[in-house]
Amino acid sequence: MITTQQYQEDYHRSIDDPEGFWGEQAKKFITWFSPWEKVLSGGFDQLDVRWFQGGKLNAAYNCLDRHLEIHPEQAAIIWEGDDPNESKILTYQALYDQVCRFSNVLKQYDVKKGDRVCIYLPMIPEAAIAMLACARIGAIHSVVFGGFSAEALKSRILDADCQIVITANEGIRGHKIVPLKQQVDIALQECPRVRTVIVVKRTANSVPWNQERDVWYHEAMSKAHPHCPAEVMDADDPLFILYTSGSTGKPKGILHSTGGYLVYVAMTHQLVFDYRPGEVYWCSADVGWVTGHSYSIYGPLLNGATTLLFEGVPHYPTPSRYWDVIDKHKVNIFYTAPTAIRALRREGDHWVTRTSRQSLRILGSVGEPINPEAWEWYYHIVAEKRCPIVDTWWQTETGGIMISPLPGTTPLKPDSATWPFFGIVPMIVDDQGNPVPDGKMGNLIIKKPWPGMMQTVYRDRDRFVNTYFKPFPGCYTTGDQAHCDVEGYYWIAGRSDDVIKVSGHRIGTQEVESALIQHQGVSEAAVVAMPDPIKGQSIYAFVTLKTGIQPSDQLKKECVQAVRETIGPIATPEHIQWTEGLPKTRSGKIMRRLLRKIANNDVSDLGDLTTLADPSVVDALIKERRNVK
Ligand code: PRX
Repeated sequence: MITTQQYQEDYHRSIDDPEGFWGEQAKKFITWFSPWEKVLSGGFDQLDVRWFQGGKLNAAYNCLDRHLEIHPEQAAIIWEGDDPNESKILTYQALYDQVCRFSNVLKQYDVKKGDRVCIYLPMIPEAAIAMLACARIGAIHSVVFGGFSAEALKSRILDADCQIVITANEGIRGHKIVPLKQQVDIALQECPRVRTVIVVKRTANSVPWNQERDVWYHEAMSKAHPHCPAEVMDADDPLFILYTSGSTGKPKGILHSTGGYLVYVAMTHQLVFDYRPGEVYWCSADVGWVTGHSYSIYGPLLNGATTLLFEGVPHYPTPSRYWDVIDKHKVNIFYTAPTAIRALRREGDHWVTRTSRQSLRILGSVGEPINPEAWEWYYHIVAEKRCPIVDTWWQTETGGIMISPLPGTTPLKPDSATWPFFGIVPMIVDDQGNPVPDGKMGNLIIKKPWPGMMQTVYRDRDRFVNTYFKPFPGCYTTGDQAHCDVEGYYWIAGRSDDVIKVSGHRIGTQEVESALIQHQGVSEAAVVAMPDPIKGQSIYAFVTLKTGIQPSDQLKKECVQAVRETIGPIATPEHIQWTEGLPKTRSGKIMRRLLRKIANNDVSDLGDLTTLADPSVVDALIKERRNVK
């Protein structure tokens, strides 16, 4: 723990002398096979940033091998199953053995350095084993969240050109079966280059089998050799691809490096959670999201921590589950999303107060703004005012936490992500890129490179440049709106682009719109966000039907189904409004600003409508809105 003054001094040094500062951190947090030639080269002007150029290392070696000398018998992973009677511990030694074996399995199936491996698994230790095994042999993992549909899985497999998929026969969440292998089978009908599917047997149920392609994980592991050397990787060799939604088109494959990413997640994990040796740390995010990558797997394992992986859901078997797990495993640090906090708050305090939670020392929040009510409840009821709350702001693209309190160091303000992490230079600007005065809302941009930042969009550098660096040349565009107060505290309001955060999950409006128009009765669709007391935001869809097609409840169900099949249940529209026409400008652009107001029943001041091609649609939309519950 450092003092506030120490933070300020170190922060200034990290900005004034980034090479000196990050060179020290890289030595402190990571074991290098050979040192770098230059800490930082290039910059945002030419977009040629490179961190630790020439340095050699391996991610799995840093997460495992080096800890074996110190604490081989310490728990690396505590796994808590969906069923409260099922849990298991993998020590660092056991995890190392499993990772080595699986690395050899991957090699046996011809996976080489630089190949992409798709991981579509539930929250079981094999997810961590598969990721680390890829890292060990220099393959690039692309984890796809198990809640994504076959269609979404297919497009991610094709985009990354994966030739191998790791999955499970089925997953279990909240006592419900998730048919993972079935989704893989459907996806692979259109992925001819996938030659191998390795299947973890998570349940006793049998699944259709393709003899030429499918391999049982346990059978392959039982024959695999328990040692595998760690591949020597360059600092800027890619470690993983993770797909995320943007405001336009299909999801982007965010590519992260090995050296810079590892330095950044190790340091942020250590400082933001003030991790102390021997503590149990639990990040409730699924490994399918960046939080799961950086703060369930890489960050904690790099620091030799015990990380808890939870297969289930907050409500099963009761709304006490999170707090029961905390008591059962004596969790010291707990990191979750505001949506879970709000959902559990609604269930009543007694589900919390009947548990002890004495082990808790620090609480974290991530993924969306945490409203003051949820913050206060987390602090007063869950933490009993004993634990600081770290509200951490960051993104898939940033690799690690960018704005967050440091516990015991930063004086907290409920609902603010507070101050930037070391090396991070945020700024709030208007749409022309001019800095705005303190307290005024604007676009959040980042002025200088940091080691955790994405390298590019996989195989689409133009998209990388245009999305993140074109709006404000020389700076990284976050796509978020925020303000900064006179004490330098950042307050993140939410996205400024067409991205919706549903229960903290990032969903592009265009993706939902294209899913809706796949239905043969639909002519056009426009999707906007609506505030939701639990999910933060929900999806509101305006749908125009083809001539002759009548709206009906059945049709609504089919439209919802089309979205679930194209993306997954997380993108389910909460409301569908049938409409005769969408408000378009004379150049044919849908006026989303107007749709947002109509969806939110905020129609007293609709702003400037002079550019509308047909102003009469507005009255019709407002009238139709009344029919939507
Ligand atoms: O809008 C911000 C919101 O989540 C977005 C990034 O989403 P994703 O890439 O899925 O990563 C989520 C986990 C890091 C951001 O652009 N967001 C994230 N954390 C916060 C937040 N909004 C407010 N407060 C936060 N603490």
